[in-house]
Amino acid sequence: MTDILTIPRPDDMHLHLRDGAVLAGVLPETARHFGRAIIMPNLVPPIVTMADAQAYRARIMAVLPKGADFTPLMTLYLTEGTDAGDVAAAHGAGLIHAVKLYPAGATTNSHGGVRDFTRVLPVLEKMAEIGLPLCIHGEVTDPDVDIFDREAVFIDTVLDPLRQRLPSLRVVMEHITTSQGVNYARTGGDNLAATITTHHLIINRNHILAGGIKPHYYCLPVAKRESHRLALREAATSGEARFFLGTDSAPHIDALKEQACGCAGCFTATNTMPLLAHVFEEMGALDRLAGFTSRFGAGFYGLPVSGKTLTLTKSAAPAIWPEKLDTGAGPVTIFHPGFPVFWQVNS
Ligand code: DOR
Ligand code: ZN
Repeated sequence: MTDILTIPRPDDMHLHLRDGAVLAGVLPETARHFGRAIIMPNLVPPIVTMADAQAYRARIMAVLPKGADFTPLMTLYLTEGTDAGDVAAAHGAGLIHAVKLYPAGATTNSHGGVRDFTRVLPVLEKMAEIGLPLCIHGEVTDPDVDIFDREAVFIDTVLDPLRQRLPSLRVVMEHITTSQGVNYARTGGDNLAATITTHHLIINRNHILAGGIKPHYYCLPVAKRESHRLALREAATSGEARFFLGTDSAPHIDALKEQACGCAGCFTATNTMPLLAHVFEEMGALDRLAGFTSRFGAGFYGLPVSGKTLTLTKSAAPAIWPEKLDTGAGPVTIFHPGFPVFWQVNS
C-alpha cells in the first residue's frame, strides 16, 4: 500500500482569487501547495485589458506571502468590445496565458460576457493565429434550457460550431461536469482540453439537494447526476493528457452563500490535494495523480513541469482542516467532502 507520494509541484489551471481582503485571505491557501495557477478575470469590474491584467497581477504579488513559490498566470475576460491588438500585445509580453469566455449571464460576474459570438470572431481568429488558448465556460444561458442540460446543449449549439469554424483555436472546456463533456473533449486533438474540478469528482446533485439544501455545494456548472460524476472520475484518472486539474476554487464569504439567493462556488484551495489523493487512490490510480495535477496542464499551456515537488502522506488518523477560512472580508467555508480523508500534504 502506498502511503507516501511525491509529485511535481502542482498547477491549478482554473482559480478564482478575487481582490482586496478576500484575495489576501485566500492566496496563501493556494500558494502553499501550487506553483502556478490560471487566474480567472471575473472581478467587478472584470479584467478586460492588458493594463487591467498588469494591475491585477501587481495586486496579487503585493499580498503573496514572502518566500512563496507561486506564479499567477493571468487571463483576460472576453467582451464584445475586446481589442484583438491588445490581446495580442498582452500575450506577446508574456503577461497573459489565456482569454476567458463567459456567455453573458452564465455565472458570477458574467454580465459583461459574450451575447453574440459572431462579434468576438476577430479576437478568436487572432488568438488562433498566435496560439493563445480560449478558456470557455460552456453553458448556454437560455432560460428555456434546463440548468442540468446547459453544458450538453452548449457543446452542440455553440462549441462544436465554433471549433468547426476555427479548428486551429486552442480551447479549454472549463470545469466539465457531464459525460457529454468528457466525450466531446475526446473528439478533439491537441487543440482541445478540459479541466475538471475537485468538487465535481466528489459530489453529485443529491449532495446539494437531498436532506436539505447545502449552499456550500452549489456551484456552476451545477453538479449533475451520479453517472456524470463517475464519467468525470474515469476521465480524470484515465492518464489522458487532455484532462487536467482546474479547481475552480471560488471563494464567497458565508453571508453571500447562506442566503435566499446564494452565490455559486466551492472553496477547495485549502484541501484540494489531499482530496484528490483520496479520489485517485479510490480509483486505483494514485500513480496518475501527478499527470492530472502537475504535468498535463503545464503541457497544454506550453510551460515546463515544475522542478519542485510536493509530498503527500497517508496517516492512520483523518486529516483535520478548519471549517472556515477567516478573511478580512468575512469567513469562507472550506469544502467538506462528507467523508474522512487520510491524506495530508507534508509541511
Ligand atoms: O461556481 C462557480 N463560481 N462557477 C463559476 O463559473 C464562477 C465561480 C465564481 O466566480 O464564483
Ligand atoms: Zn470559475
